[in-house]
Amino acid sequence: MAILVTGGAGYIGSHMVLSLLVNGYDVIVIDNLSNSSRESVRRVEQIAKKSVVFYDGDIRDRDFLDSVFGRHEVSEVLHFAGLKSVGESVLEPLKYYDNNVSGTLALCEAMNTAGVRRLVFSSSATVYGDPASMPIHEGVPTGQPTNPYGRSKLMVEEVLKDLAAADSQWSIALLRYFNPVGAHVSGKIGEDPFGIPNNLVPFISQVVVGRREALTIYGNDYPTPDGTGVRDYIHVEDLVEGHVLAMRAISRKPGVHVWNLGTGRGYSVLDMIETFKKVTGKDVPYVIAGRRDGDVAECWADPSKALDELGWKAGHCLSDMVEDTWRWQKNNPNGYS
Ligand code: NAD
Ligand code: UD1
Repeated sequence: MAILVTGGAGYIGSHMVLSLLVNGYDVIVIDNLSNSSRESVRRVEQIAKKSVVFYDGDIRDRDFLDSVFGRHEVSEVLHFAGLKSVGESVLEPLKYYDNNVSGTLALCEAMNTAGVRRLVFSSSATVYGDPASMPIHEGVPTGQPTNPYGRSKLMVEEVLKDLAAADSQWSIALLRYFNPVGAHVSGKIGEDPFGIPNNLVPFISQVVVGRREALTIYGNDYPTPDGTGVRDYIHVEDLVEGHVLAMRAISRKPGVHVWNLGTGRGYSVLDMIETFKKVTGKDVPYVIAGRRDGDVAECWADPSKALDELGWKAGHCLSDMVEDTWRWQKNNPNGYS
């Protein structure tokens, strides 16, 4: 039996594939390489000294999916494939609903036909919208995501809940990530966004490595201790460990399960800049600009449900996250290219 990882060439997916290989699982990857490089999977194979079966294909293509399920015995699917740029989703909503929602529908239909009904889905804290208080527990009702990307995640969650309600053979984990950062300790795989990074940590590391002049801080007038936005940054290695535990848990428990994957601590943009300065010994030039549309002041998790039910707790601190990010960026100033 093998585990199918959609989006396994991407940032989180590549770390997931490495962890699965190291844990002794056989892995099949489907990725259309729309936001990633085949090189990430090659490096994962080098580090693990084990190979994966790689398919360059699209999850929206039912015939292709049926052929993959026809060729392999799949026990569960870890579903990372999707588009994730918030700004692009505002400009091209249909592209996002097609990829993220229709893609997941096609995947679930193919899984049903193949009799594979265990699924771990990459959701996001964005489904909470702008909750009234922190930290955010899974019991807080989902809110109003401020953009089509966020709404596509919420729609998929609703679809998957309906699916499990209609057919008790399904076991589904909805993992709500807070802010994944960091890289594998080898410095060989990491986050390599195409174009200008939208997210804070890849942007700062490209500034420090000399690819960009200065960070723009989106607002220093939030009601937070230093005025800049506060987020729950979580090391990608902790995140993938949460998936392994969630995958094992749903194999014993049918139905839908929701778990936050965060550390339970919030850090501001200025905290992050200070940590980069300490870790790298380099300056981080920045300018202050207005708030970015759709940003919330603060967002951090109550991760106690994952601790109680999965025995999972994030182990890496902010310095670890920045050290590992920096090792990857310094060794690969231009990413995989
Ligand atoms: P990523 O872009 O690095 O990885 C996604 C992968 O999916 C890419 O390799 C891309 O080529 C592939 N892909 C996209 N559409 C596809 C399709 N139709 N068919 C096949 N492959 C396709 O992103 P990531 O940061 O690794 O995120 C993985 C998942 O986690 C995404 O679903 C994302 O929305 C979700 N997520 C990410 C974050 C984050 O901050 N990185 C936060 C919350 C949720
Ligand atoms: C963003 C998305 C969210 C998505 C997540 C992971 C928005 C509104 N939200 O979350 O839907 O799930 O990425 O992909 O885009 N910041 C700067 N300068 C920058 C970049 C960011 O000051 O160049 C600040 C932001 O204002 C925020 C913090 O840094 O306060 C973190 O931003 P980011 O890394 O983009 O994550 P989120 O906004 O939490």
